[in-house]
Parts: sequence; structure tokens; C-alpha cells
Amino acid sequence: MRRETLVTMSLLSTVEMAPKDPIFGLSEQFGLSTVPNKVNLCVGVYLDETGKLPLLNCVQAAEKLVLNESKARGYLPMDGLASYDAAVKGLVFGADSAVVSEGRVATVQAIGGTGGLKVGADFLYRMNAAGAASSGGQPKVLISDPSWENHRALFTNAGFVVETYPYYEAGRRGINAEAMFGALETTEAGTIVVLHACCHNPTGCELNADQWARVVDIVKSRGLVPFLDMAYQGFGEGIVEDGAVVNMFVAAGLDFLVSTSFSKSFALYGERVGALSVVCSSAGDASKVLSQLKIAIRTNYSNPPTHGASVVATVLNTPELRSMWEAELGNMRVRIKAMRLALANGLVAAGVTDDVSYITEQSGMFSYSGLSESQMKRLRDEFGVFGLDSGRICVAALNDGNIAHVCASIAAVM
Ligand code: LMR
Repeated sequence: MRRETLVTMSLLSTVEMAPKDPIFGLSEQFGLSTVPNKVNLCVGVYLDETGKLPLLNCVQAAEKLVLNESKARGYLPMDGLASYDAAVKGLVFGADSAVVSEGRVATVQAIGGTGGLKVGADFLYRMNAAGAASSGGQPKVLISDPSWENHRALFTNAGFVVETYPYYEAGRRGINAEAMFGALETTEAGTIVVLHACCHNPTGCELNADQWARVVDIVKSRGLVPFLDMAYQGFGEGIVEDGAVVNMFVAAGLDFLVSTSFSKSFALYGERVGALSVVCSSAGDASKVLSQLKIAIRTNYSNPPTHGASVVATVLNTPELRSMWEAELGNMRVRIKAMRLALANGLVAAGVTDDVSYITEQSGMFSYSGLSESQMKRLRDEFGVFGLDSGRICVAALNDGNIAHVCASIAAVM
């Protein structure tokens, strides 16, 4: 009797089952599915033409070099491996970047792009919370509508109120840029605005250069705080082309944050190699910001792991390996574009009469198919084609062996 009372009163007996993650939860469901010819288009992972996760040649070569050195594994500094942080700066801001040489960028290694966002969110919350509390408000973050499924949860968990700015309009199968500008123009100064620097996740729809220039102007004149998320550099048009937006914010003289990731571009998903860079107005500001980022890191996970960062730094800092990486990344980009075309053509061949030109106009790993939640469910349950409830599918997981089945399945539910 007494024992039962204790069990009933146990703290953990009140814990409720959490909802499944909208991306990885479906991937788990994929693993359990017994539908024949199943295809996993849920998670943003590049698979090669044989449906396999690649291990890049440049990574294999760098791993040999790293292992040959047989280094002991001491703690890395809280902000990560210095050669890695320097390589990230070169890649994100360009080799001859003035902001970098002037010491105005604070870069820290992070646990993937998600870790970069979280360290940035914690840092901003600490900086913002005092000011917002004194004005009676709560610090706010705006994300695009729609955005990466984890943005809202991540910033909410860091303490922010999260709202959206208009972005994608289903009727246009594209961006409603005027609505986006209008919303940003009426946003309160100091609000953090999360922007996808390239390869918008989940829609694949990109602002053009003029529209970006307008966003930069609005952000500057309204005193908003830009937080760029760049998880797919090199998967859109090229490494430099995809990073161009970062340099527009630099050229405007803005202070801003940018989180980056090598999960996709190096196919190092499981190594969790990412970074956060904060561009400041002076070297003095950057060193103070760096000291605060270290606190955010120390209180989250103390310091980052060694292996993935050593591999990426070795590739980026060794000219021969760097060229190898650029070529391998280029091949992935070209294959994704070829699969977009094959998807568009395959849908038409399967009897779809809608305009499918949006598929080849979108950029990066994803296509926003326009399918409803119930159509996506049918795709999973009846055909074993797994995409997200939002209609997002990962075109980087298509190949010649699965494309016909995917096209026929989509055509069947449309
Ligand atoms: C995705 O959007 O599928 C990827 O970025 C993986 C993730 O962490 O959600």
C-alpha cells in the first residue's frame, strides 16, 4: 500500500510522452515500415546515385593524415580548434575578407549547425533579456513562414517568443517578397530575424539579389538583428555564390550572426561539425562577444569534440584536398540538379498535368512539393515514399533506381 502511494507520487510518473520530431521521428517510422520499395526522402541527407551515404575521398585522405599524427585527445579550447575556426572564417567570409583580417569576427566551433544556432540563441537571450525585461517585453525571434522545423523549438527553448514573417505563398509556388518586406518594415527594433542564407529549408525558394538587398536595407534601417542560418553552402549554385548573402550583410556594416555546418557539404553528418560566427563593429567588441560565446559553450557542453573539426580543417587548409572537396561538392550539386529535372520530367510522364517548373527553379536539397499532409501520409502508408507532413521532400535522396516509383506514387496521390 505504502509502496503504491510512493509510486503514484513519483515525479517521473507524471512525465508525458513527447511528440515525435517532425523530421527524425518520420525517419524512425521509415525504418519500421514494411512497405516494399520504400524511399526515405524525410531528412536532409545527400545520398549518391546508388542510394548510399557517401564518404568523400577528401575526407578519407584527411582522416589518414589525422590518424597518422596519432594525437592524444586533450580538451579543445571552449571555442574549438583554432585552425578549424580560421578555416571557417575563410570559407564563410572569403579568403581576403577585411572583417576577418581586422579581427571583427568571433568564430567558435559548434556541435553542428544546430549547435551554432543554440550557442547564438543562448548568447542573444542573455544579451537581450535584460533590455527586453526593462521595457516590459520578452525578447523576440522571427523565423520565415515556413522554416526549418527545429527553428521554432530551438529559439523557444532558449527563452524567446517566436513569431513568423511571411515567406512562401502556396498559390504562387514561390516567395511573396512584398509581404515579407512589409512585415519586416513594421518589426520592432532589436528583434532577431532568422534568415536562410541559401537553399531555403524547407521550400528551396530563394530571394534574388535585389530582394536580398532590400532585406538588408530594411534590417539596417529598422535596427533588426540578423541571424543567418547557412547549413547548405555549396549545394545551391556554388561555394562563393551561396555565401554571397553573408557578404551583403558585411558590406552594409551590420553586426550579425551566422551559423554554418559541414554536415551536408562534407557528408559528415554524424561528426557534428558546425560553427557560429558573429560579425562585430570592432575587434574590441569581437573579443568581448567571444568571451560570452565561451560561457554559452561551457554551460551547454563545455568544449567541442576533436575529430570532425580536425578532418575539415585538414581538408580546407591543404590545397590539394581542398580542390578535391570542391570537385566532390560540385558533383553532389550537379547530381541534385539532375534529379530535380528527372523528377519534373518523371511527374509529367506519370500523368501530372500541373506546371512542375517550380521543381527545377528551387535550390538546394529540398523541394516543397505542394502536397497536403494527408497526401504525404498516403505516400508513406500506401507507397512507402517518406517525405515530411509539410510536403517537403529531399531531392538529394533521389536516384535512377527510385525516381520512377517516387514519380508514379506522387502522381497517384495528386
Ligand atoms: C533537415 O532539415 O532534414 C536536416 O537539416 C536535418 C535536421 O537536423 O533536421
